Amino acid sequence: MARDEVAGNFANFDPFRVPSPCYVIDIAKLEDNLRILSDVSAKADARVLLALKAFSCFALAEMIGGFLHGTAASGLWEARLGRTRFQGAVHTFAPGLKQDHLAELQTLSDHLIFNTIGQWKRFKPSLRMNDDCAFGLRINPRHSEAENPLYDPCAAWSRLGSPIPQLEGEDLEGLTGFHIHALCDQGFEPFDRLLGATEEKASGLLERINWLNLGGGQMITAQGFDRAALIGRLRDLRRRTELDLYLEPGTAVALNAGALVTEVLDTFWNDGHVAVMDCSATCHMPDVIEAPYTPALLGTETLDRAEDMDPRDEHVVRVGGPTCLAGDVIGTYRFDKAPKTGDRRLFLDQAYYTMVKTTTFNGTPLPSIALWDPRTDDVRVIKQFGYEDFEGRLS
Ligand SMILES: Cc1ncc(COP(=O)(O)O)c(C=O)c1O
Repeated sequence: MARDEVAGNFANFDPFRVPSPCYVIDIAKLEDNLRILSDVSAKADARVLLALKAFSCFALAEMIGGFLHGTAASGLWEARLGRTRFQGAVHTFAPGLKQDHLAELQTLSDHLIFNTIGQWKRFKPSLRMNDDCAFGLRINPRHSEAENPLYDPCAAWSRLGSPIPQLEGEDLEGLTGFHIHALCDQGFEPFDRLLGATEEKASGLLERINWLNLGGGQMITAQGFDRAALIGRLRDLRRRTELDLYLEPGTAVALNAGALVTEVLDTFWNDGHVAVMDCSATCHMPDVIEAPYTPALLGTETLDRAEDMDPRDEHVVRVGGPTCLAGDVIGTYRFDKAPKTGDRRLFLDQAYYTMVKTTTFNGTPLPSIALWDPRTDDVRVIKQFGYEDFEGRLS
């Protein structure tokens, strides 16, 4: 399912109202997404957790807690963040756990999920049983749906989750649930197929557990996602198996709920028109390079094909960041109005997998973080970073 690149409320946002660069979170859109997820949760009788790895804006914890069951953490620090800054349950999974994190993880987590039966067996003797923390295992159904190999945990030679056949004959005593995760920005049909494959491959095992965490990657809040079908599928699964069901989306929570404000630092010509911004792909939107993808830039058309990139046209501009990395290119765009130094622009749909992934490579400043409520037009800058944040990570 393609990312839904609409300007939404940001079509009316004045980028000079915040410092640049700045991530601006649209609270109204976030609330719309949360309402959809809460509705799905209630109708499907499944619990929805926020995957903190995607979006960790604890300034909005109270609002998020009003709609979702809790948070999904990727290790000790996210579990701490979930427990101390957010509301609700904390469910933790990490591909590798450290012995000296275990006691605290168990205290922080409602569910602690192991990646392999080997880790589970190794750590089991040091876990407190009959505690408030339930233990689970990530299983790997070896059913690939993700289109991009970078996001396919079910690919051959994967390190994510226990292959189901390896669990045959294993003593699962003490494990009360399973976890699967194998989707990325996908619609209902891939989810349905993944669940079908899991049910088939793990049929004998599902009778031995009480809960099933179905991971994230479902674009539940995107236009066109078949939510009725999802609700029906989950209800049916629950009716047949009586399992407690969990979903842990990240992207779907913050979809289209944020933009990155940036300023043009320089423009010039070198085989074509170039603009250097004060935001960077590698430091502030790393998925642009990793995935890769080209983020939508308000007031422009994204150009993908070389034949559309006429270098003589001053409206056709290659836009990049201020770092030394030659590949710190964000995209090539056709601008409505040719950009000039000092202009401010908005990269759209930048709330998830951005703030959580930033770096200060080259000493590049971190973007500020602001909350904007388009219903009242109230803007609040909630975080600004300085030189000390750069220096503090070095020695
Ligand atoms: C285990 C797990 N759960 C949940 C998520 C959230 O996925 P998304 O943000 O695509 O919904 C991820 C993403 O990588 C994940 O690895």
